[in-house]
Amino acid sequence: MRGASRPTLAAGWTGCVVFDWNYWLAEFEARVPRLVVAPIPAGSRLSGEEKARIGDSIGTFQLGEQSEGRTLLRFAEDFALRRNIPQLPRVTELFIREEQHHAAQLRAFMLAHGLPLKQRNWTNSIFRQIRRLAGYEAAVTILVTAEMIGFVYYRALARNTGNACLRTICRQMCADEAIHLRYEAQLLRTLRGARAPWLRLLVERAHRVFLGITARIVFREHRAVLEHAGHDAHSFRRDCASLHRTVLACPNPRYGVRTHAP
Ligand SMILES: [Fe+2]
Ligand SMILES: [Fe+2]
Repeated sequence: MRGASRPTLAAGWTGCVVFDWNYWLAEFEARVPRLVVAPIPAGSRLSGEEKARIGDSIGTFQLGEQSEGRTLLRFAEDFALRRNIPQLPRVTELFIREEQHHAAQLRAFMLAHGLPLKQRNWTNSIFRQIRRLAGYEAAVTILVTAEMIGFVYYRALARNTGNACLRTICRQMCADEAIHLRYEAQLLRTLRGARAPWLRLLVERAHRVFLGITARIVFREHRAVLEHAGHDAHSFRRDCASLHRTVLACPNPRYGVRTHAP
């Protein structure tokens, strides 16, 4: 546990589920110095064909990473107050900062290659509207869904762009998203763990359906990039579903994973 202080338990709010908030606080704090936009090498080039294929698609993902996260932070602050988790607002703030770093890095790449930035995208707008209307658990569920889709997308893009700088950016973002997914998955398991097992199974089923629908929409919107990376609609959905199984796999379906023994 890198630089973490003595672990404490979020005791008293489920009675069973353990979430080590100090671990995640230390983890995100330790990552802050890395949040510096890497300069784009002067010789970095994209062919006209590649610009046409990936420009609009990267613009949409750049916009998605750019959120100020006000809704998420508000939910987290309310939840932290109700459940007495003083670390949660800061963890959420640092997490949002990492997503903004992704946006800034993609922005630098786009500007260096003359790719136009996007101001709006209908899928982003819908995601944000739903998040605003939802509660904390639903907002985290939507976030996890977006992170899973983003992970599969960036991994595909890294494998299939001829630009070395973009490959590095995508791989770094995949590495970051893997940590985000670990955090969010533990958080989600903890939130869901307070439910009756049958209700929890129902919620998890609904999440898988939501992920499947979202993956279908994303594939249609980013078909040129994903097909060039060797995906079809089925393989893209399958990879997203497999990531969902991996990330949210839970040895104890009732309580989630213990991150620390009491
Ligand atoms: Fe991200
Ligand atoms: Fe992320």
